[in-house]
Amino acid sequence: PSYDYLLVDKRGESGCVGLVTLNRPKALNALSDPLMIELNSALQTLDADPTVAAIVITGSDKAFAAGADIKQMEDQQFVDCLKVNFLDHWNGITKIRKPVIAAVNGYALGGGCEVAMMCDIVLAGEKAKFGQPEIIIGTIPGSGGTQRLTKAVGKSRAMQMCLTGDMITAQQANDWGLVSSIHPPDKLVDEAIKLGERIATHSKVVVAVCKEAVNSSFELSLGEGVKFEKRLFHATFALNDRKEGMTAFVQKRKPNFTDT
Ligand code: HXC
Repeated sequence: PSYDYLLVDKRGESGCVGLVTLNRPKALNALSDPLMIELNSALQTLDADPTVAAIVITGSDKAFAAGADIKQMEDQQFVDCLKVNFLDHWNGITKIRKPVIAAVNGYALGGGCEVAMMCDIVLAGEKAKFGQPEIIIGTIPGSGGTQRLTKAVGKSRAMQMCLTGDMITAQQANDWGLVSSIHPPDKLVDEAIKLGERIATHSKVVVAVCKEAVNSSFELSLGEGVKFEKRLFHATFALNDRKEGMTAFVQKRKPNFTDT
């Protein structure tokens, strides 16, 4: 399919990494409804593609995404939000079963920061800036910013970011654990693809199960989470790839996973 606001490509060895580039440069990748609908659709297509093992989402050098589209929201009333459950479909990203890596260069603000935080791993370019500036325009984060940011960086830092609207640098985001690593801007997407390729050497089914287990830690108590993890761990013993992985180790050879 072709998209108006995205570029979609397959990169890495044998095209094992889906690359989605947000491409609405004139508005700094402001996340309008049509753009988010396309993003969900592109992610679902890559999720269903058996040759793809991981997905990278990136933007431009200047902006990963400058937030929800303020021009689209300006004249919107409460009742308009209520009628369509405004932004409900934004969590489509969190339904993707393959690992999703955000490669953030430039601004990741408001909804842009929230989209990055919905991804499984965030890598940042050295010039990246993160923020939840909604307070400056008279609203608050609406797609998980107050929740995921708090879990990522802790209460005091999340409060400070949400209440001041001030941006933090890539270095701060790295120190605070919001991102896993920082890279020179021109190397960032390649690094994200390399990371995707590394994940692609593993069994796709086991990777999906592992992602599900880590994500359950955000929803469950420790006791419930550990129990759920144990059952998923047991479930891997029903897979050919579990047997292949352990046999390959014992035979001192590389595993040949079949995603079964
Ligand atoms: C619509 C936007 C936009 C946005 C930028 N643009 N951000 N349009 N929605 N979020 C447009 C500008 O209007 C301008 O269009 C063009 O992009 C270039 O932006 P400039 O402001 O001229 O660029 P610059 O001076 O370099 O400043 C960059 C910036 C600034 C610091 C990122 O654009 C900015 O503060 N943007 C808004 C950030 C923000 O508040 N985000 C949160 C949105 S609320 P024209 O037509 O004038 O050239 C939100 C709610 C989430 O995300 C709730 C749940 C999802």
